[in-house]
Amino acid sequence: MRFSAILVAAGSGVRAGGGQPKQWRPLAGRPVAWWSVRALLDAGCEDLVVVVAEDGHAMAAQALSGLVGWRTVTGGATRTQSVANGLAALAPASEVIMVHDAARPLLTPDHVRRLLDALETADGAAPALPVADTLKRAVDGVVVDTPSRDGLFRIQTPQAFRAEILRRAYDQATDSATDDAALVEAIGGRMVLIPGDPRLLKLTYPEDFDMAERMVSTPRVLRVGQGLDAHRWGPGDAVWLCGVRIDHAQTLVGHSDADAGLHAITDALLGALALGDIGDHFPPSDPRWRGASSDIFLRHALDLATEKGARLINVDVTLICEQPRIKPHRDAMRERIADILGVAISQVSVKATTTEGMGFTGRGEGLAAQAIVAVEVPAY
Ligand code: CTP
Ligand code: MG
Repeated sequence: MRFSAILVAAGSGVRAGGGQPKQWRPLAGRPVAWWSVRALLDAGCEDLVVVVAEDGHAMAAQALSGLVGWRTVTGGATRTQSVANGLAALAPASEVIMVHDAARPLLTPDHVRRLLDALETADGAAPALPVADTLKRAVDGVVVDTPSRDGLFRIQTPQAFRAEILRRAYDQATDSATDDAALVEAIGGRMVLIPGDPRLLKLTYPEDFDMAERMVSTPRVLRVGQGLDAHRWGPGDAVWLCGVRIDHAQTLVGHSDADAGLHAITDALLGALALGDIGDHFPPSDPRWRGASSDIFLRHALDLATEKGARLINVDVTLICEQPRIKPHRDAMRERIADILGVAISQVSVKATTTEGMGFTGRGEGLAAQAIVAVEVPAY
């Protein structure tokens, strides 16, 4: 169904505080009003009027930049007056009009669709939540009555209307109302309710921002990856381990700088995101990686992880060798790894062990490293 919409954003947000009207404050990285404009446009709105305060036009242009298909008009002293100004600006041909508070940012196209469906049998439709708390009437803090909550609902926006009846309701309105449905009811219009949604909450008080932020942010999950690498000892005078050069009577032999520590971390990070292994990204057959410094590999894995929205939680690496002694270099290694990964040194652990003379590391044929990495990523 085709529809037009009025988004009221002309209030001053006195109760929310915060130094600027709440509809222009950020929520999950975007101005509050941006979310509703995007949802209405996504839902197929053909004519979208954003009603702003007299000095709000530039603010709207800035806050809604990048979104196409909306325009502003100036609002009035009350919400009712602001909606009336929006109505006057809408194309006269529109048959269905949706009115929405910019202060309710968590609107989805699905809400819009359900409201439009409800209009098939009504003059207007609004989302509503049954009142769950017991109601009291009080005077000066003293309870005088406990009215029944049966049949009582909390009404939200957007509210959808047949354009003709909404225009008539506003033409005949003698007083202002806190929602548009009340004016339609007043002229005998048939208003129906559809199930509301806690996400359609109106940002009214400062603490509402925290709640909305939690509702809008994507859940994140923990993922872990492990990596293992080994290189053979050969003739040389220094070895690279975890990004640190250590003078030693031998070196590790490999296509790159053979830094088994960084290779194990790289594989662990790739593993945490199921992005294959180091050989997929840097084939040993490629001459570009001959003698390469292994921080390149780790940085690349980090870039891939960052693209997926991952944030590193911690790294734990164990070097397995009889020689060289790792302990004197441990903090330098932690610092270097933290530097490459852009995390705090407290997020990086480097450990070492011998194998008591057993196996290939014990016989001094080679060195092995294993690493585990934990990352936090969006759940979907
Ligand atoms: N609104 C409007 N014009 C007005 C008053 C309110 O367009 N003269 C809009 C608000 O911008 C908001 C919606 O109506 O999107 C609901 O109003 P409310 O939550 O009361 O917002 P404010 O009036 O801005 O807040 P407060 O009452 O705390 O000052
Ligand atoms: Mg108000």
